Amino acid sequence: MDRILTAEQLDYDNNENQLRPSFLDEYIGQSEVKDNLSVFMEAAKMRGEALDHVLLYGPPGLGKTTLAYIIAREMGSNIKTASGPSIEKQGDLAALLSTLEENDVLFIDEIHRIPRFIEEILYPAMEDFKLDIIVGNDSSSKNITIDLPHFTLVGATTRAGDLTSPLRDRFGIVSKLNYYTIDELKTIVKRTSCVLDCEIDEEASLELASRSRGTPRIANRLFKRVRDFALVMGDGVITKEIASLALDRLKVDKLGLDDTDYNLLKSIIEKFNGGPVGIDAIASSIGEEQTTIEDVYEPYLLQTGLLKRTSRGRMVTKKAFIHLGLDVPEKFE
Ligand SMILES: Nc1ncnc2c1ncn2[C@@H]1O[C@H](COP(=O)(O)OP(=O)(O)OP(=O)(O)O)[C@@H](O)[C@H]1O
Ligand SMILES: [Mg+2]
Repeated sequence: MDRILTAEQLDYDNNENQLRPSFLDEYIGQSEVKDNLSVFMEAAKMRGEALDHVLLYGPPGLGKTTLAYIIAREMGSNIKTASGPSIEKQGDLAALLSTLEENDVLFIDEIHRIPRFIEEILYPAMEDFKLDIIVGNDSSSKNITIDLPHFTLVGATTRAGDLTSPLRDRFGIVSKLNYYTIDELKTIVKRTSCVLDCEIDEEASLELASRSRGTPRIANRLFKRVRDFALVMGDGVITKEIASLALDRLKVDKLGLDDTDYNLLKSIIEKFNGGPVGIDAIASSIGEEQTTIEDVYEPYLLQTGLLKRTSRGRMVTKKAFIHLGLDVPEKFE
């Protein structure tokens, strides 16, 4: 079964578009990113030029795709979308680029997954708005250069570190999205309540916000599940009692941790004396892929300060012992 707390998109997040804010004003939180972007967009509009290329990076579910669509809308541009893994040949990217029109936004999700030899096509396209392609077959092939319209590439990635530096350097605007505060998530929960026309009280919004791992996608997903409990067990309004009961039933604890997080923390404590321990050893002890731990489980545990990274590996913290209801050993005091 899918983990309800995963920040990655699940099949039943299908109506995400309905909950996506359309304009920068409705996009909650990330104030630094928003403030800067609005200046750059305003300036580009005043000059009558396309916005510089934008790279958005950060953990899943924090609003990268949403922001890409907002940029296009705010610039009054059309958006064309693609994702790294779907670009398998140089021709795929060339075809995509040649459909662009002046001031279009080209959104490439998971941009770190474009293979290097294909990525090279992007360099002149981004820098000089030129497309270099080879036409013809082996015996009579020749290079031709096509002028492209001025466009804005918006790239999104959860793994900025996997981007090659020539690609990264060609983005004029690089913005990191951070986990949301509980207050910001409360505002998102209230907005969702309006969009879905389902009432939620103040305390219940706080309950949902604090258990959503700093991630709007999770807040929205939990909202929908809690709404079901409110309908069946109450009168449809989400109260604190209903929210707590539902989230307990869904095995989401007060900090937004579930069995997988407990497993991970407990295995470091029980099998490795609390660490430090290498990520590969943790991965094999809980039977998960190393990259899944790094991308999906670990970021929030690091963010909440239950886990920390040291030069010798991962370590649990005093806070983790306390949260799990265990005695704190001397070395962690
Ligand atoms: N700042 C925000 N304000 C309100 N809602 C938001 C915000 N950011 C994200 N959301 C909600 O969270 C959902 C997930 O956001 P989005 O799909 O943009 O995340 P993402 O960063 O692109 O994730 P992934 O890395 O998986 O592609 C959206 O459907 C939207 O409803
Ligand atoms: Mg996305």
